[in-house]
Amino acid sequence: MPLARPPTLSPDAAKRLSIASARSDVPPFMVMDVMAAAARLEAAGTHVIHMEVGQPAAPAPTAAIAAARAALASGRLGYTEALGHRSLRARIARYYSERYAVDVDPERVIVTTGSSAGFTLAFLAMFEPGDRVAIAVPGYPPYRHILTALGCVPVPIEVSEQTRWALTAESLIAAHRASPIQGLLVASPANPTGTMLTAAALADLTRSAEDAGIRVISDEIYHGLDYAFAAETAAKLSENAVIINSFSKYFCMTGWRIGWMIAPGPLVRSIERLQQNFAISVPTLAQIAAEAAFDGIAEMEEVKKGYAVNRRMLLERLPAAGLDAFLPADGAFYLYADVSRFSNDSLDFAKRMLEQAAVAATPGVDFDPVNGTKFIRFCYAGSSSDMTDAITRIANWLGG
Ligand SMILES: Cc1ncc(COP(=O)(O)O)c(C=O)c1O
Repeated sequence: MPLARPPTLSPDAAKRLSIASARSDVPPFMVMDVMAAAARLEAAGTHVIHMEVGQPAAPAPTAAIAAARAALASGRLGYTEALGHRSLRARIARYYSERYAVDVDPERVIVTTGSSAGFTLAFLAMFEPGDRVAIAVPGYPPYRHILTALGCVPVPIEVSEQTRWALTAESLIAAHRASPIQGLLVASPANPTGTMLTAAALADLTRSAEDAGIRVISDEIYHGLDYAFAAETAAKLSENAVIINSFSKYFCMTGWRIGWMIAPGPLVRSIERLQQNFAISVPTLAQIAAEAAFDGIAEMEEVKKGYAVNRRMLLERLPAAGLDAFLPADGAFYLYADVSRFSNDSLDFAKRMLEQAAVAATPGVDFDPVNGTKFIRFCYAGSSSDMTDAITRIANWLGG
């Protein structure tokens, strides 16, 4: 039964009670809109090849799934400590010594609900409203949208071919001189470009930022997925930097919503208090699975070989299909293709490619409102047969 409106409330007063706050007015994540359009086509019977969403087609490591099954069978799943299961935090710390030969104190490891929650916690713990945080453009859209929703100011720094599409110390310091910056968020491998910073470039950027009093956040979610050279962790370069990572990509666990951060010691208690209040703790089942995921590294390396095959196939065969201008695809599982030969409206290009070729990809405007009109992001984390099919469809579409 509909609720009766209190007779004293005017329609205008009632409307005011349900207005969304100005800070919640963030742009949509357009890739989700492409997904929705693809789903409509699929419902009508079209076989769509999905290259829009940045997620692996492979399942979580077998060991992770087995651990989760055993935990479910054992019955009760309670809260954990807000910072996460101690054994998982210790296992993550051990991963740093195994993978990067760096000692990380498990006390500095914080388990988060995907890296997405890590950003919210980091921004809240590090910045005041009005603080300015530098990010590369093109870049992952939620960086700027979360910062804006929290009252911080994203400072887009345009990157270009000249620096292999990476932020440099010079561009950061120039922006800082123009108007002081409090934070820097850097990602290598990056989304949407897939480009990477060398260890020396990341060290230079981190040192220059910290020398200027700029706090560094390093998004390392695509670590492990590199094809040209290994990614460096900022944990090796500074104990003041905040490292954000996740089980979503390398470990193929997007839907489990689990990630981690490494915070400077003095920030841990603040983040703990935020997490206690915001979430109590991260889902326990996902924490148990994540700890076991580290036993699945050999399996994940096999999955990565599949990405490498897909990457090579696309780089070799897309040019003949008509798309021949890409940014260097060093890591992650993305190809950022320049489609300006065909269109200066990447949203329209993506829509037509979906409707006419049944290949879903993400328009660059999601990542760069200005120059993104010329680019399309393809995710190659799907099966090799899908990639072959996509190349044929794109060739027929652009050629026809
Ligand atoms: C660069 C980057 N950072 C963070 C995320 C968030 O991932 P999650 O919350 O699943 O860890 C994504 C997801 O696509 C991403 O591309």
